[in-house]
Amino acid sequence: MKTCVLFDIEKYDRLGNKLMGNKPYQEMIAILDFGSQYSQLIARRVRESQVYCRLLPFDITSSQLLEYNVKGIILSGGPASLTSKRAPYPAPGILDLGVALLCMCYGMQLLAHFIRGRITPAPEREYGKSELFVDNKEDLFYGLSSPLDVWMSHTDQVTILPSGFETIAHTRNCSIAGMRDRKRRLYGVQFHPEVVHTRQGKRIIENFLFRICGCAKEKTMNAFIDHSVEEIRKKAKGGKVVCALSGGVDSSVTATLVNRAIGDKLRCIFVDNGLLRQEEAKEVRELFSDHFHFNFRCIQAEKRFLKKLIGVIDPEKKRKLIGEEFINVFAEEARKIGLVDFLAQGTLYPDVIESVSVRGEPSATIKSHHNVGGLPEKLHFNLIEPLRDLFKDEVRVLGRELGLPEIMLKRQPFPGPGLAIRIVGEVTEKRLEILRQADLRIAEEMRKYERFSEIWQSFAVLLPLKSVGVMGDERTYEYTIALRIVTSMDGMTADWARIPYEILGKISNRIINEVEGANRVVYDISSKPPSTIEWE
Ligand code: XMP
Repeated sequence: MKTCVLFDIEKYDRLGNKLMGNKPYQEMIAILDFGSQYSQLIARRVRESQVYCRLLPFDITSSQLLEYNVKGIILSGGPASLTSKRAPYPAPGILDLGVALLCMCYGMQLLAHFIRGRITPAPEREYGKSELFVDNKEDLFYGLSSPLDVWMSHTDQVTILPSGFETIAHTRNCSIAGMRDRKRRLYGVQFHPEVVHTRQGKRIIENFLFRICGCAKEKTMNAFIDHSVEEIRKKAKGGKVVCALSGGVDSSVTATLVNRAIGDKLRCIFVDNGLLRQEEAKEVRELFSDHFHFNFRCIQAEKRFLKKLIGVIDPEKKRKLIGEEFINVFAEEARKIGLVDFLAQGTLYPDVIESVSVRGEPSATIKSHHNVGGLPEKLHFNLIEPLRDLFKDEVRVLGRELGLPEIMLKRQPFPGPGLAIRIVGEVTEKRLEILRQADLRIAEEMRKYERFSEIWQSFAVLLPLKSVGVMGDERTYEYTIALRIVTSMDGMTADWARIPYEILGKISNRIINEVEGANRVVYDISSKPPSTIEWE
């Protein structure tokens, strides 16, 4: 029973969106996905504007769309060309719904194609920044300055306006970069308003939402919660769901959302692998077990993990062994529960590596290095992934809405293999204790730093390198602690943080004076690339 499909096929499309049923929302924007790498960004911009939206397959039928309370439709861009035989088209009747349409890039070409405009390959392929001259500021471009930097990415362009349309913007290379049929509320833009490189792109989207569709702002996170809860309940159908709760933001928010939907039917399993930070297991237990009263089990498995790690030096071997042992422990625990129907997992949108194919090929795959990577494949679980449309900062907002404490939501990323990959060389109980104590001092001092919120990660690394020191009148011969403090947007690239010397000094003093087993502290001033954030 190996599957990654979220919902019943008849009722849910391959993106996992519900297609039938009642209309739980006042209003919604439907985004038809033609395979653009930016489709999720469009959704994000709409959500940021506090309007509820759904990303739907490009070929959803107009009758299926009517199941929703659609106030407007956005046609995304896409990699295809209308000149190709395989070009994806929307289902017939979309234009006749009488709903406002904003069509971006390939979407605009589709719009022109349907209303008999002409599309031809552009003389020059336009990719990147371009200057947009706004010709009409009545609605879509209301309140914008001109010229405006916009992001273009196209090979074809509309060269003859469809009947009933007028040009509302142009660039030097593209005489129809924006067009409208105001009467029918049909709008097309050749550029991408959803990307940050388009200045005031958010304003353009908001003009569409509020001026053209007449949407009202609503608490989109509340709508998201209500909708997710309803979907999780329907999907779980009274079955048992397990969640590997790590205490990180994603798994905590996932568990809280699923718990809200199905209560005790959700079993949270927390594996204490002995590679956690000081007090971490206790804090997670207190929050989810004592405070929230989740069906929560903490598995004490330190000994098992440490035994596996004896003599292991190679970082990848460490990762592999820890991952395997995690699956073993988790599987044993899940077996005790009996038949488990689903695994709830905190997959986020950035974890989904490829956009869903517009040709109906299999849906998105998950990066193999995801925190609980390996579990669904090895244990043949069906998945519940309520966060898979969201970005990290949206998950934090959601967590806040669900009542999770700020300290948990602002947690820095912590790797699945834990402190094991922050000890260079063999992992032993003694080294773990030194590292934990040093790490605690860093955390305490960093929290006092006024710009702490700008820090991506700040932690200690234990080097298996001993050096001579002097304490009082005694000679010492102890380990070295490296401080790793970095800024980053997404962990893909990073820079060492320019921390005030006073703070570095305080951390160093505290570690050397208070942590038995460490007598030297160094500051890592390498950026990523070419270094990585973690040392292993
Ligand atoms: P690197 O060291 O590759 O780390 O620059 C980038 C980000 O990923 C985290 N990281 C991991 N997370 N399992 C995880 O769950 C891992 O094996 C792992 N290795 C690195 C790291 O903390 C940083 O945020």
